[in-house]
Amino acid sequence: MSDKLKLAVIIGSTREGRWGPIPSKWIAETAAQHGGFEVDLIDLLDTELPQHVTELDLWSRPGEPGAAVAGLGERLHRADAFVIVTPEYNHSYPAPLKHAIDYYMAEWAAKPVGLITYGGGAGGQRAAEHLRQVFPELRATTIRHTLMFSMYWEKFDENGQFTGFGDAEPHAKGFLDELEWWGRALVNARKQVPLPA
Ligand SMILES: Cc1cc2nc3c(=O)[nH]c(=O)nc-3n(C[C@H](O)[C@H](O)[C@H](O)COP(=O)(O)O)c2cc1C
Repeated sequence: MSDKLKLAVIIGSTREGRWGPIPSKWIAETAAQHGGFEVDLIDLLDTELPQHVTELDLWSRPGEPGAAVAGLGERLHRADAFVIVTPEYNHSYPAPLKHAIDYYMAEWAAKPVGLITYGGGAGGQRAAEHLRQVFPELRATTIRHTLMFSMYWEKFDENGQFTGFGDAEPHAKGFLDELEWWGRALVNARKQVPLPA
């Protein structure tokens, strides 16, 4: 059995014409090359959660959840660590990402979350700060390292390729090292003692 940590990379934007898949695929590939992770790239655009959270589908799920809810829930449940790649929308993060976060609870618990942001001058960091307020309620921990791409639209070469990933590589190593440390620590902790209710 592989001892790689199961990492879910979540593309946090679903907007038509979005940039989100580019940094998401980059970190997914970087994490796969890092050596410590088995990566599942989750695109919220493909998940088709119901627009309104229903009690049936939420948390305890006494009945059968719909396929979309169960499918994403299964992928989140399987993950030992998360990377969320999010833009900043009006000084926060996109509503579809909040919806996906709110749809689940136990799936997030006692797992680390790494944040990658992008946007204007602030690099999307206000989205990260809002997520840092949300995840403790789901008993997940956000890690200290972040990666951000500020004014990314100014960094394309003549072929339309983004030129910012080279500078980000050394930071990505520290980011992934910290995420792996937390992920392994919490896998062991979950095995030894269940998270108190
Ligand atoms: C609705 C909306 C609100 C935005 N608000 C901000 C903002 O508050 N701060 C910022 O730096 N960029 C903001 N932007 C610019 C986005 O960071 C930029 O368009 C980015 O590409 C959006 O991510 P996406 O392309 O993956 O959807 C906003 C963009 C949109 C569409």
